[in-house]
Amino acid sequence: MYKSWVLIAVALLCAGVAAADEEGGIALRHADTDINNSESLQRGARNFMNYCSGCHSLKYLRYNRMAEDLKIPESELAGNLMFTTDKPFETINSAMPKDSESWFGKQPPDLSLMARARGVDYLFSYLTGFYVDKTRPWGVNNLYLPSTAMPHVLQYQQGLQKPVFKNEPDAAGARMVLDGVESMTPGAMKTEEYDQFVRDIVNFLDYAGEPVKAKRQSMGVFVTLFLLMFFAFAYLLKKEYWKDVH
Ligand code: HEC
Repeated sequence: MYKSWVLIAVALLCAGVAAADEEGGIALRHADTDINNSESLQRGARNFMNYCSGCHSLKYLRYNRMAEDLKIPESELAGNLMFTTDKPFETINSAMPKDSESWFGKQPPDLSLMARARGVDYLFSYLTGFYVDKTRPWGVNNLYLPSTAMPHVLQYQQGLQKPVFKNEPDAAGARMVLDGVESMTPGAMKTEEYDQFVRDIVNFLDYAGEPVKAKRQSMGVFVTLFLLMFFAFAYLLKKEYWKDVH
């Protein structure tokens, strides 16, 4: 029995390594977001409205719901966060016309469910992964979404990065493959500052993907504790019932 467990473990390990190998690509950066950090969520909402909502909508989220969840006062909401409407019960639409596909080659996608679809690590990596590439229409490419149609809208904050290549042996000898990026011209923010700036946006997008997430998680802890307590009582009761039978 013991042997077969070991065999299964080894097989799983090999499969895991093979899968990781196949994926190749560049490892995602860890987003390290915290959905319970309401200050980060508030900053993220502000950054999103200022730098992303021009092109991207959040069509499943209403302004007033967001204000309530994130504890943003009404005055702040109307004055600083609502650019496309003056009605707090409306969903967060972008200013982008429907035919903007011809501007970018692709319509900027709605970001409501993007964090759920791709995960926060991907979003964090994507937003920190732009690098200079003169062959692309906007002069930038992305480590995690090759030939992306999105311009580097946070270039002023991040500065510019250049690609780093490595030699990889293949059938024809060796070829150059993209290995990462390094800073080329500094932006208005230091690296850690920019990371935090992006982390806040990603945190906000994580919230937008599932506004009840924080509540659901704390509820989960509560329910588990309740079940544990209930189990203890049920066990005691069972002992009580059966004590005379044995
Ligand atoms: C000038 C318009 C514009 C702005 C502003 C903009 N984006 Fe985009 N974004 C695009 C376009 C166009 C695409 C489609 C890219 C593609 O599929 O190649 C895109 C795609 C994306 C994607 C999807 C990537 C994927 O893997 O499919 C994410 C996530 C994203 N943007 C996040 C953001 C965030 C966050 C901001 C604000 C900091 C932002 N964008 C600002 C135009 C914009």
